[in-house]
Amino acid sequence: MKHETINSITLPKIGFGAWRIGGNSSPDHALDSKSLTALRSALEVGYAHFDTAEKYADGHSEELVGEAVRVSAKKREELFITTKVTPSHLKYDDVLKACENSLRRLKMEYVDLYLIHWPGTGVKYEETFRALNKLARDGKVKHLGVSNFNLKLLKQARELSETPIFTNQVPFSVSDRSYVDNGVLEYCQQNDILFTAYSPVDEGKLSSNKTLETIAKAHNASIFQIALAWVISHPRVITIPMSFNPQHIQENFDAAELELSKSEIAQLTNG
Ligand SMILES: NC(=O)c1ccc[n+]([C@@H]2O[C@H](COP(=O)([O-])OP(=O)(O)OC[C@H]3O[C@@H](n4cnc5c(N)ncnc54)[C@H](OP(=O)(O)O)[C@@H]3O)[C@@H](O)[C@H]2O)c1
Repeated sequence: MKHETINSITLPKIGFGAWRIGGNSSPDHALDSKSLTALRSALEVGYAHFDTAEKYADGHSEELVGEAVRVSAKKREELFITTKVTPSHLKYDDVLKACENSLRRLKMEYVDLYLIHWPGTGVKYEETFRALNKLARDGKVKHLGVSNFNLKLLKQARELSETPIFTNQVPFSVSDRSYVDNGVLEYCQQNDILFTAYSPVDEGKLSSNKTLETIAKAHNASIFQIALAWVISHPRVITIPMSFNPQHIQENFDAAELELSKSEIAQLTNG
């Protein structure tokens, strides 16, 4: 597994995304067994970074991530757990309460990374960061970050956070370069901020093309693995693909071992 190191913290290039684990916008207990199998497979394969949110399945994703970690052979400190506060909870007291609720569902003493899930409307970030800074000082969260923040908001977050903003989690894939085009990737690379790519295989809708197929054939890999290898070929970039399928979970993890040539990376970038 390849890694990125930010502020002396080393994270694997490929982690596991837990959106749809346990349901979509509300808990779907019919998915529990499938969800726990996926999480168990990921832990056994060696994934160490798990990304969830209070919004995912209305908290049930956090419950299942916590459960899978507790029954696994891994120690809590061997894992890196990210969760997120929803934009409707960005007032001071609401942030503190949201974090307590996430920790209760995860049954954990702390999370490694706590993100503002996406920008809210009419939010006073001074107030939000007063609460986030307290959570960091109290050790409830080890690092603070943001998600879906444009350059202007990312700069504002950096000014308000008492600790360095650890990451901006944004969409990034062979077909979605919006956060390259808006300057966020370059800014993260220049300022030691981790760029966490979500939906790296376009929510499973990755469309095949000749370039992807040719490169996949040359590496005896799937087009999904090549798409992931391209994403993480960028400095300061990690990613968090999601899958229910144990075979895909293994393949996605193994994608970190692929070595794309400069020419292959350029073809995918320009394709
Ligand atoms: N911060 C945000 O606003 C935000 C937004 C979206 C997502 N996220 C995070 O990012 C994570 C990943 O994004 P995502 O779930 O939207 O999309 P994704 O990881 O791009 O795609 C997931 C889908 O791709 C399929 N898939 C994954 N690996 C595959 C493979 N090797 N071969 C074939 N199909 C494969 C999965 O189906 P199978 O189950 O059949 O494998 C699943 O349906 C989320 O789980 C979440 O943690 C964050």
